[in-house]
Amino acid sequence: MTTPAAPSLFDTPALNGVPLRNRLVVAPMTRISATDAGVPTAAMCRYYGGFARGGFGLIVSEGIYTDRAYAQGYAGQPGLTDAQQAQGWRGIVDAVHHAGGRMIAQLMHAGALSQANRFRDDTAGPSAVQPRGRQLTLYGGTGAYRMPRAMDQAEILQAVDGFAQAARLARDAGFDGVEIHGANGYLLDQFLNNHTNLRQDGWGGAIAQRMRLLLETIRAVRAAAGNDVIVGVRISQAKVNDFTYQWPEGADGAATLFGAIAASGVDYLHVTEHEAWQPAFADGAASLVQHARRAAPGLAIVANGSLAEPERAAAMLAQGATLVALGRGALANPDWPARVRAGRPVRRFDAAVLAPLAGIKDAELALREAPAAWAG
Ligand SMILES: Cc1cc2nc3c(=O)[nH]c(=O)nc-3n(C[C@H](O)[C@H](O)[C@H](O)COP(=O)(O)O)c2cc1C
Repeated sequence: MTTPAAPSLFDTPALNGVPLRNRLVVAPMTRISATDAGVPTAAMCRYYGGFARGGFGLIVSEGIYTDRAYAQGYAGQPGLTDAQQAQGWRGIVDAVHHAGGRMIAQLMHAGALSQANRFRDDTAGPSAVQPRGRQLTLYGGTGAYRMPRAMDQAEILQAVDGFAQAARLARDAGFDGVEIHGANGYLLDQFLNNHTNLRQDGWGGAIAQRMRLLLETIRAVRAAAGNDVIVGVRISQAKVNDFTYQWPEGADGAATLFGAIAASGVDYLHVTEHEAWQPAFADGAASLVQHARRAAPGLAIVANGSLAEPERAAAMLAQGATLVALGRGALANPDWPARVRAGRPVRRFDAAVLAPLAGIKDAELALREAPAAWAG
C-alpha cells in the first residue's frame, strides 16, 4: 500500500469541473475604483489581470452590488445590475482568462452597513438595529452607521432576486462562477446573527430561520446561473464593524450552518478568520476550517486569513482546506504563486497602498506591468 502524497499548493484541483492551475486564490477585496455608474474601469482590468499573470489559479472579485435598491455599500463600488456593468466585467474576465486564470464574481448586498448608495438615501436590513462601530474611512465613510429600516417581505424577495439576476449577468459576462457574500457583517450575515436579526416572521428566530435567507439565495442563484458555473458561499465570524465577534452558538452553530451549506448544493465554502489556523471558539482547539471540514466532508473549502507566509498557507491544506485565499498577501505580491514557486521571499504588505482611500493606485499597476520590478 502506498500513502497518498500530501496536498501541495501547486496541485491542480477542479471546482464543479472547472480546472484550476493551482490551489491559490485572490481573496475578494473592495477597491472602490469603478465609475459613479458602477462600471468597471481600465485600471481594474489591469489590476485583476496582474494577479492572473502572477500565477494565481482563481481570482475572486471584490464585492459587487446586486440590485438597484439597497445592495450598494460604497461609492466607487462596481455593480452587476445592467448591460454596461456586465460589459465592463467581460473585459476583466477576458484578461484573466487570457493569462490562464479563472475568475469568480463576489455578489454582495451591504444591507445595514451601506455607506453610500446612488439609488437610495436610507439603508435597510433585517431589523432596525443600529450597526456597531464606525463607517470605514478607507471607503470614504465617516461617523456612525445610519439606523436601518427593517425590510418587509417584498424587499427581502427583491434582494434574493437581485442576487439571482446578478448571477445570470455574471455567467453571461464569462465569469467561471459566483461567490455569495454571506460574511463580514453584510446583509446575509446580518440575517444569520441574532443581535442584528430580531425578526419573528419566519426570517428570524432560531438559527434555522436565520439561515433561511442565505439558503434561499443559494437556491435562487443556482437556478439562475445553471449547473455549469461554480457557486460558492463566504462565511465569517468577524464583521467589518465588529472585528472580534464570535458566534454565540459556538461549535454547534458552526456545525448547523456548515451542514446546511453542504446540503445546499454549493461547490465550495469559503471561510475567513483573522488568523485562519487559530481555534475558532474559546472552548476547543479546532479552527473554523476544521469545523467546516467536519460538517462538510465532501465539499471544497477555501481558507483565508493571514496566510501570506507559504508555510502557513500549506499548513491549511493539512487542516482540510482545498484552496487557500490571500488578501493583503496578494496585494503585496500579485505574483505570489510564481514568486513562491521560484523560491523567492514574499514581500510584506504595506497598508499605505490603501491610504487615504482604498482605490487602486498607479504604483500597484506599475508593479504588475513591469515584471522586472517583481524580482525585488
Ligand atoms: C482592501 C480590502 C478590501 C476587502 N474587501 C472585501 C470584499 O469586498 N469582500 C470580502 O468578502 N472581503 C473583503 N476583504 C477581506 C479579505 O477578503 C480577507 O478576508 C482579509 O483581507 C483577510 O485576509 P488576508 O489576511 O489574506 O488579507 C477585504 C480586505 C481588504 C484588505
